[in-house]
Parts: sequence; structure tokens; C-alpha cells
Amino acid sequence: ESAVPITLKLNGQPRAWSGDPDQPLLWFIRDDAGLVGTKFGCGIGSCGACTVHVDGAAQRSCVTPMAAVDGKSVTTIEGIGKDGALHPVQQAWLDEDVAQCGYCQPGQIMAAIDFLQQNPSPDEAAIRASINNLCRCGTYVRIARAIQRAAR
Ligand code: FES
Repeated sequence: ESAVPITLKLNGQPRAWSGDPDQPLLWFIRDDAGLVGTKFGCGIGSCGACTVHVDGAAQRSCVTPMAAVDGKSVTTIEGIGKDGALHPVQQAWLDEDVAQCGYCQPGQIMAAIDFLQQNPSPDEAAIRASINNLCRCGTYVRIARAIQRAAR
């Protein structure tokens, strides 16, 4: 397996990387960049704990190969706030006291931001249907409330 050079932006900063182009983006984020807010849950694209944005759209980084982000802009939970302030969706999560164990919540927030970008004024049914990331603590009702709050 020959190493392939890849360039991308990570939370706005240019990054150069070289390695197996099939390596999951998740491990670049956690191990190379040291950004551990993006979580490993299932590793097979099912749970959503590893959700980040690639060119602004939510993607599950455990099943996104490095080759797929060459030339792209990757944003993690650490990169969504501006000027030291929380992102409005993060603030809504705090206001609704969503987290229990918290493990899945960075991925939940990244998925919610993408959903709200596409659906700025969603109704309750649309919000419920949008929640596709797993939460073993069962915080779904509070996740839905936080999305509703952020949409206001
Ligand atoms: Fe990526 Fe579960 S760890 S979807």
C-alpha cells in the first residue's frame, strides 16, 4: 500500500497528510489532529457518534476515507463556534440540558446543524425524523427540543 498525499482544511486550517487513502477520516481527526470531540462508536457508519461536516454537510467520519476529503473542508465539533462563542445549536443543547453521558452528543450536534441548514423552520415531525444518530441514554426528546429551540 503506497502512501498518498492529501491536503484538506480542518476547522479552517490547511493540513497536509500522507498515508493509506482508505484510512478513515475519524482517525486522522482523533489521532493525527488530536481532536477527540469526534467519537468512535460503531465504526460501520450506523451510530453517528463520528459525525463531522465535509464541505458543510454531515458525514460519518468512520466510513469516510481520507481519499474522499482531498481538497475539502472538514469541520469538527471543536470548529463550529465563532470567536470563542458557542454555536447557537451548542447553546440550545445546554439550555435544554440534553446530555446524559454525553458521548454521542458532538455527533448529534453536528447532524442537527446540517439539518437546520437545510430546514431552517422545521416542524416537530421533521425534527423527529431527522434524528438518526443513536443515543444509548435515550435523550431523543431533549435533542428534539434543542433542535426546536435552535430553529426559533
Ligand atoms: Fe461512525 Fe458509528 S462510529 S457511525
